[in-house]
Amino acid sequence: MTSVKGTMKAKVVPRVKIISMGNTEVGKSCIIKRYCEKRFVNKYLATIGIDYGVTRVTVKDRDVKVNIFDMAGHPIFYEVRNEFYRDTQGAVIVYDVSERSSFESLEEWVNEMKSEIGNQSDLENVVVCVCANKIDKKRAVDEVEGRLWASGHGFHYFETSAQTGEGVNELFKTLLEGVISTVENGGKKIPVVTQLGYSKDQIEAIQRLKNSKSDYERLGLSVGASKDDVNKAYRKLAVLLHPDKSVAPGSEEAFKLLVAARTTLLKRC
Ligand code: GTP
Ligand code: MG
Repeated sequence: MTSVKGTMKAKVVPRVKIISMGNTEVGKSCIIKRYCEKRFVNKYLATIGIDYGVTRVTVKDRDVKVNIFDMAGHPIFYEVRNEFYRDTQGAVIVYDVSERSSFESLEEWVNEMKSEIGNQSDLENVVVCVCANKIDKKRAVDEVEGRLWASGHGFHYFETSAQTGEGVNELFKTLLEGVISTVENGGKKIPVVTQLGYSKDQIEAIQRLKNSKSDYERLGLSVGASKDDVNKAYRKLAVLLHPDKSVAPGSEEAFKLLVAARTTLLKRC
């Protein structure tokens, strides 16, 4: 630490305000409990309206007082939680990787935050961490989908399990460091840099190839498509997924499925 002739100022940081968002039962309260109290509660106790807690932590060598507003995810509590968005500096937006609908709701949560936070441009300076929780369970949402959604919004992304504790400290470390950096930067958020190296189109193509029930579906064709259609669809997907070019996770397996589907369909034409 450097001190210039007794002019070193104590690094005073005002209180920090953090909120949690996401559908009911995704694990918001458990993630906060895991972080603050280092424990996990298996029994579901729905948050009624809002839970408030304070914790003191050291972030970037500063003693920081963190005010956490843990929101209830159930729609009936909208009227209660809507007034707590204002002045938020950091947000944890949670979904449950074993519940696809909770991932599909993320956009609605962002919209709710945008409309309630007051000045729209304030949101640009809120540090947001997307939290893909319950990774100890069987997944309905792949990591790549979550990462893609988060990076598309300029948000950080973390995989967590409140049950095992995995990822929880890292999530809060990034969130709080981001908030403090924003304060240090005069209230302006430092953009999240993500270098995924793959696109939404690539991920969607990989998923369709992996999850489709028929070869026609894999290539995005209707039953009875012509030889020409098959080759056209094949070429389009091959450009997206060729393992020499694509770094999207699952490209290699998807490319094999693509080649096999094309071979089978051409035999039928
Ligand atoms: P609301 O307060 O209704 O909005 O729900 P919430 O998002 O706060 O969910 P909560 O933290 O209360 O957790 C809901 C249920 O999920 C509880 O039964 C938890 O024990 C369970 N749960 C939370 N996190 C995890 C996790 O990482 N893994 C597993 N397996 N279960 C979890
Ligand atoms: Mg809760």
